[in-house]
Amino acid sequence: MTGLLEPRAIGQARTRDDGRKKVTGTAPYAYEAQVERPAYGHLIQADVARGECVRFDTGKAEALEGVLRVITPLTAERLASTEDAELAVLQDRDVAFRGQVIALVLAETSEIARHAAGLVDVEYDAQPYDTRFAADRSDLYKPDILNADFPSDTSEGDVETALHDAAVTVTETYTTAMYHNNPLEPHATTALWDNETLTLWDSTQGVHPMRSTVAEVFGLPGERVRVICPYVGGGFGSKGTPHANVVLAAMAARALPGRPVKLAVTRQQMFSLTGYRTPTIQRVRLGADRDGRLRALSMDVVEQTSRIKEYAEQTAAPTRMMYAVPNRATSHRLAALDVPVPSWMRAPGECPGMFGPEVAMDELAVALGLDPIELRVLNEPERDPETGNPFSSRHLVACLRTGAERFGWTERDPRPGSRREGRWLIGTGVAASVHPAKRMPGSTAVIRFENGRYTAEIGAADLGTGAWTVLPQITADALDVATESVDVRIGDTVYPAATVAGGSTGTASWGSALVASARAFRDKFGTEPDEGDEISADTPGNPAEDDYAMYAFGAQFAEVRVDADTGEIRVSRLHGTFDAGRIINPVTARSQFLGGMTMGLSMALHENSVLDPRFGHVVNHDLAEYHIATNADVEDLRAEWLDEVDPRVNPMGSKGIGEIGIVGTAAAIANAVHHATGVRVRDLPITLDKLL
Ligand code: MOS
Repeated sequence: MTGLLEPRAIGQARTRDDGRKKVTGTAPYAYEAQVERPAYGHLIQADVARGECVRFDTGKAEALEGVLRVITPLTAERLASTEDAELAVLQDRDVAFRGQVIALVLAETSEIARHAAGLVDVEYDAQPYDTRFAADRSDLYKPDILNADFPSDTSEGDVETALHDAAVTVTETYTTAMYHNNPLEPHATTALWDNETLTLWDSTQGVHPMRSTVAEVFGLPGERVRVICPYVGGGFGSKGTPHANVVLAAMAARALPGRPVKLAVTRQQMFSLTGYRTPTIQRVRLGADRDGRLRALSMDVVEQTSRIKEYAEQTAAPTRMMYAVPNRATSHRLAALDVPVPSWMRAPGECPGMFGPEVAMDELAVALGLDPIELRVLNEPERDPETGNPFSSRHLVACLRTGAERFGWTERDPRPGSRREGRWLIGTGVAASVHPAKRMPGSTAVIRFENGRYTAEIGAADLGTGAWTVLPQITADALDVATESVDVRIGDTVYPAATVAGGSTGTASWGSALVASARAFRDKFGTEPDEGDEISADTPGNPAEDDYAMYAFGAQFAEVRVDADTGEIRVSRLHGTFDAGRIINPVTARSQFLGGMTMGLSMALHENSVLDPRFGHVVNHDLAEYHIATNADVEDLRAEWLDEVDPRVNPMGSKGIGEIGIVGTAAAIANAVHHATGVRVRDLPITLDKLL
């Protein structure tokens, strides 16, 4: 048995297995782990953006009844590894960004801990700091390697000559804001030390990657750390890499022998401690022939990182493979500032990176007098321009054509400001979407026959995306049994190794391991196994990855209404058509697409972390002021997909869908706003002041 699975359970619309448990409050979250006599922690954060803590006055806090311990850099244990500066907390008295953790209070209740934290006085030797994010800084530097292992700079052909010779050019600068992940469940941990074994109930997108990191930081063998996380209240990437809070929770539990510790990051603390999407400045240049064929494309990106730890987002990566352009150049430069450490947020790279170029394509279409869909179709590449490889499957044109039909694009009068209903100016816009369709090596699944049923174990994570629901469907088809006869167990390091739920790779990677083990099980034990028969297998490598470019694609359509007097912007319709290979479960898939598109709407109109350069912190650090799209902002939102199977990506024929929904949405909305009003907004978010 090799090759593609015959879909039987795959494709069935099954509602989320964890959904009912979550909404009825019976799905235990990390903070709710049942432990004996827990102590509660509260973090203390630096009030200066750079400097040194010269004195800690903990007396008042320690005198408070119910306070168990105040841990400062003077009293904290020394960590075995301080290589990752974000995780090397309380190891010295330096402050590298405002909001960095400088102390931790442990108390009998969370309220006492929080109150006591306010009683700790810290004296600083404040130093000058720099949080100015700008493209004209003289100290911008070139990172060697970007997130997901992309090279920083690329160049092919001769962009300058081709731009010079082009009949039509677009040269513009686009900016995306700083964004913060705001999952419903903040980052939280329950930590327990017991006979030199550390157990962490931690809200994470990967129990095994979390275990490896924590074991290294504390100098423990991996077997002595167990991480448990059956349910996650969202993450969007912010729980994909360990942050300081988990190290602090473990440290706190070790400081209080015999007492487990619960430590939750507050919503406000999340704005400095749990990652964020870097702001970007994107200079995009396009050059085309009179007929619309692209001759040159360049994209130069500036983004920020923290002075203590480099994170370089692959913002220009998607433009490298998107269109057939003979002359291409891309670059990334970083400003290392006294700011918190940026990290993953839904579709790092592709999400901000498809804003500038997809608005630039719209500007080019307007300049050429071409329909923006036709411009994209005209520049559709036969092969991946970057590698020269064919695509495993690429149905972007079909997404654009099908989406256009469903959305009602064809009746569009291309003239900006041509459609008005009462006070509302109405416009429509389109943008392309893309995300790599990868499978990660490094997961193992075990399949066992017990009590007349099949049990599959894999230490995977479900951050609300549907792993609990779709992994049994995949396993059932691989075993050729009903979904109901399969139990899949995830979310605990007692189960075999599994890679992070990130990069839209989860289902492909874990599913491939489950299929491999199910097939090995059938090969060895046949269709009538004995009680206790068991086998394990790893995610196999995919040799086709060397010969094919593997991506999911999509077309995003937006209709907006803009109030002609006030500039108020409403997104009345969003429609996405996606090429995501075989859809494993239409219920969970639709939910992923719609969730991504909603987050893209939110990025287009609302989200914006405002860093105050006078103090160095994000001032709108709560949900009252950091605006996120809510139900009233979402009107008619639809996602659909092509009935396609990609035979080369994995045995399911599926492409990851956790991230592609957000990609291109903001560009489609910006393009629609231009169509409605004639005003071209190149910096996000699109607020009404930019239209007046
Ligand atoms: Mo996603 S940002 O790769 O967790």
